Amino acid sequence: MTSNVQAMPLRHYLQFTDLSADEYAHLFKRAAFIKAKFKAYEKYQPLADRTLAMIFEKASTRTRVSFEAGMYQLGGSVVHLTTGDSQLGRAEPIEDSARVISRMVDLVMIRTYGQDKIENFAAHSRVPVINGLTNEFHPCQILADIFTYIEHRGSIKGKTVAWVGDGNNMANTWLQAADLLGFKVHLSTPSGYEVDPAVVGVRSAASTQFFKDPMQACEGADLVTTDVWTSMGYEAENEARKKAFADWCVDEDMMKVAKPDALFMHCLPAHRGEEVSAEVIDGPQSVVWDEAENRMHAQKALMEFLLLGQV
Ligand code: CP
Ligand code: NVA
Repeated sequence: MTSNVQAMPLRHYLQFTDLSADEYAHLFKRAAFIKAKFKAYEKYQPLADRTLAMIFEKASTRTRVSFEAGMYQLGGSVVHLTTGDSQLGRAEPIEDSARVISRMVDLVMIRTYGQDKIENFAAHSRVPVINGLTNEFHPCQILADIFTYIEHRGSIKGKTVAWVGDGNNMANTWLQAADLLGFKVHLSTPSGYEVDPAVVGVRSAASTQFFKDPMQACEGADLVTTDVWTSMGYEAENEARKKAFADWCVDEDMMKVAKPDALFMHCLPAHRGEEVSAEVIDGPQSVVWDEAENRMHAQKALMEFLLLGQV
């Protein structure tokens, strides 16, 4: 029966650094186990009677479907809220919303604007809070991306990821992951769109190398990845960004200078002809569909961990 009194010490997943390297190793193993059960049509319902509240202040396809389907598959249920159809859109304080919502459910997932909002919600929540994307971070996506890398190529430790594009929530999270899990990021962003080191946090410089030329960033990479030129919330900058990012399109020439067995990833949604060419995203090195599917398997492992610990 649901009683949202935690058997587990309260843990939130607000940025990638909220878990340790050992805990990630556990999650990647659990994600593989949970995925295998799903593929074999075997029921696995450790979260029977648990409820997940999902709060969306920005649009979503993958995050909504993966959390909602994933929670039902684990035996639980889901409540879906948006700014427009709840009191959140009528300025009820975040603190009050957190106190109320977290008395009725076992887990909360939030997609919002500033990281400060989700931090504030978590500070007043009695149940675990998961970041489903903020302006600053997208940890669930990188969790799924690294799980996808491991499935295709084995451990990511010591490997090189080339980031081509905006210094955005995805870039920040890749940098946190590299520092924690021991791989390198070659980062190439247009001038004026660099990552903010203060957002990423204090890291050893060894895991990041900056490149003016995106082609150079891709040289010898094991994985090439990019994201939209204009993230949600920055739409007013769209025209200026189209000009600034024109040379930051991952095309076949960029993929050619990466390792011959390099993978291509994109969190999606993608704009063919902008940040990536159709030949690359629809080509043989692209694993974007596995990446999208793995959101669900990886997040099922995450929800199991936050509610039940290392089972
Ligand atoms: N990649 C990702 O988070 O997709 P959605 O915006 O569709 O949730
Ligand atoms: N950087 C993008 C990711 C979308 C999943 C955004 O924030 O809009």
